[in-house]
Order: sequence, then structure tokens, then C-alpha cells
Amino acid sequence: MERIAEQQPDKKGKPPMLSKKENEKLALVGPGTPAGKLLRRYWHPIAVAAELKEKSVKRLRILGEDLVLYRGEEGSYGLIVERCAHRGASLAYGSIEGCNIRCPYHGWLYSPAGKCLEQPAEPSHSTYKNRVMQTAYPVQVVAGLVFTYMGPRPVPLLPSYDVFTRTDGSRHVVVWPQLNCNWLQPMENSVDPTHVHYLHGAGRGKPVHGDGNAEIKKYEFEPFEYGIMKKRFALNGNGKVEVVNQHPLVFPNMLRQHHGLEHYLQYRVPVDDTHTLFFEIYFLEGKADGAGSTEVPVEYAPSAMKEDGSYRMDRVWTQDYMAWETAGAIFDRSQEHLASADRGILVFRKMLKEQIDRVSKGKDPMGVIRDPARNRLIAFNTITDSKREVGKGR
Ligand code: FES
Ligand SMILES: [Fe+2]
Repeated sequence: MERIAEQQPDKKGKPPMLSKKENEKLALVGPGTPAGKLLRRYWHPIAVAAELKEKSVKRLRILGEDLVLYRGEEGSYGLIVERCAHRGASLAYGSIEGCNIRCPYHGWLYSPAGKCLEQPAEPSHSTYKNRVMQTAYPVQVVAGLVFTYMGPRPVPLLPSYDVFTRTDGSRHVVVWPQLNCNWLQPMENSVDPTHVHYLHGAGRGKPVHGDGNAEIKKYEFEPFEYGIMKKRFALNGNGKVEVVNQHPLVFPNMLRQHHGLEHYLQYRVPVDDTHTLFFEIYFLEGKADGAGSTEVPVEYAPSAMKEDGSYRMDRVWTQDYMAWETAGAIFDRSQEHLASADRGILVFRKMLKEQIDRVSKGKDPMGVIRDPARNRLIAFNTITDSKREVGKGR
């Protein structure tokens, strides 16, 4: 059985760190950037639906673009670029009329699809409005969250992950504090299982599993249809080495975990290059109170910081925030020293580069779904203990 210490990240002995240019290729998210183009091929949650009352507007920045999300009458939503196509005033000060939004400056009226419907100061016979479009993006509300897709048309399907669609239990959402760092830092953490044993204290730094403290013999990171399945192998009660835990990084910006009856999907959504939204959707098997309802309870996590500006280190999630944010607003990977236990990070970066390449050739990247038959219910083969190894009091 291969041991962790014998798994070398690079057989040629070449340090596996990235150049500054390669780092930017994987990390930056704005329009036209390689990772930005890749991320725009997926649906992302951007807001809690219940935060928007009817006829209200919320300013947002997503993937480096300044936007306004608004809720129209009769449950409609619109997501539109903030600066008006006429002379640039902010539509965040606009007014809602039906399912449309009117600019506060000269009253141009836009539909949720970005069509200009009215230009009050133009002659009544003018057709100029028919040639003006405000950039707008489609939205859908799922599991209490507003999702958008900011990529090229045709728009793919929003994946029916099991935590969104199962009805044999209850669902809720946790909104974690906005991260002051680039999206890649939490995502690389999702393929870094050894930090659990040190940062979070399980095994006091030694890779062990379960109540019996069985030594973890091996980690594997297996690419599959939707991302990377992380596997931990340890001795079972019969003296055999077997998988004792597996759960996936769902490409490109999700982590799917499972403990006992609890299932959760974390999304890390770039606000811009140096800030990231963090939503978590929980599904608890068994208590079927309200899983089919559109009313999804939402919990807002407190700050990860103490009053003196240092991180609280008494919670698993605040420990993670410390590790992700203190690496810098955009971690400079030209300075890193990856070791043998960091193979998962290399597997993820390779996948990112391959999928960026697919997008540059005009192909759909992995995990993009267009066939409704493939989108009935997307579940993952997770293996877990009956309880959390770490994370009590999360
Ligand atoms: S700037 Fe919006 S209508 Fe003129
Ligand atoms: Fe962690």
C-alpha cells in the first residue's frame, strides 16, 4: 500500500509552484480572463431570495461585474448591469414597474432581458430604443437562493443537485461571511485533506480516522464526471485497508460533504479577484418538514474575527477563514512549496487548465448540462462516518 510520504507531486523533481502568469490564469475572474470565461459557463448562487422584497433592488458585484438584482411584481426577478446604457447612471436607484426597471436619470425603461422599452425624451415615432440593449443575465430561484448564468448563449440547465431537489427531508441555507480573498484559496483547500488533522485538530496533526484513531494509509484524488472524488483509506476493524471517507470537489467551485444524515453543498462564488461569496445548502434526511416548500430557512454566520481584528480560532470554519485569507488577497503561488501531501491541489489545477482549454476551443467544460434527461437528480457516491470527525460547534 502506497504511503502518503511516498507520493511525490512531481517525478522530475521540478518544484510544482506556478509562475505569476500561470497563477493569474487560474485565479483572475473578470470578463475576458481565462478562469473568468470558464466560471461564466456555470450557474452560481448570488443572493438569498428572501432578502429581496417586491419592488426592491440590490447592488451586487459578481465575477468582477457591477450588477443590480431586482425583484419585480408577481415574483419576477431581473439581473442587469448597473450602469445605464444611456449615460451611465446607476440602476440601483431605479424604480420597478411590473417586471421592468426604470433608470432614475432620464427614465429609460428596461426589461429583465435588457431590452430598452421606453425613452421618454425621444420623439414618439423614434425606433432608437429597439437598437439599445442593457446587458442582462438570466436568474432562477432554487433552494431559497437566486442563481445566475453569466456566460454565452444558449444557457445550460441549472444542475439538479440532490440537496436542491430531494423532498425526503428538510433544507436550509447558511450564508457565511464574504471572504476577503480569491476564490481559488477555498477551492484548493477542498482538495487538501491533511489540513483537517492539523488546523482542525483531529489526530493532533497525524492523519488518523475515526474514534479508533486508525492511521490513514493513503489519499486518492480521482477525477470523475463532475469533479474530483477525494478518498481516504485506513485499516478497518478486520485489518484490511479500505476507503473510510470519500466526498467530491464539484467542479469548478463547490464542495459536497456528507456526515450521517446531513448533506451539504458549499459554493464559493467570486465577487471579484479578491472577494468571494460563500453559500452552503444543507439537506437533512428524514425530517420532511418543508423540503418541498419554496420557503427555505436562512442562517447568517457571525464574523470570523474577534473585536481586536484577529481570527477566532475556536471554530472549524473560522480556522479555515484564517488559513484562506492570511495567504493574501490573491495567494502568490510563485512563492509556494508544495509537498507530497499536496497532490490533490495538482490534480485540481490540471483539471482547471484542461477545462480552460476546452472553453478556449468553444467547447462546454465538464459538468455543464444541457440534456434534461441527465438532469433529473444529480447525487454523489459519498462515504462517511455516522458523525463528523471535526466540526462540532461549527
Ligand atoms: S442615464 Fe439612464 S436614462 Fe439616462
Ligand atoms: Fe478545513
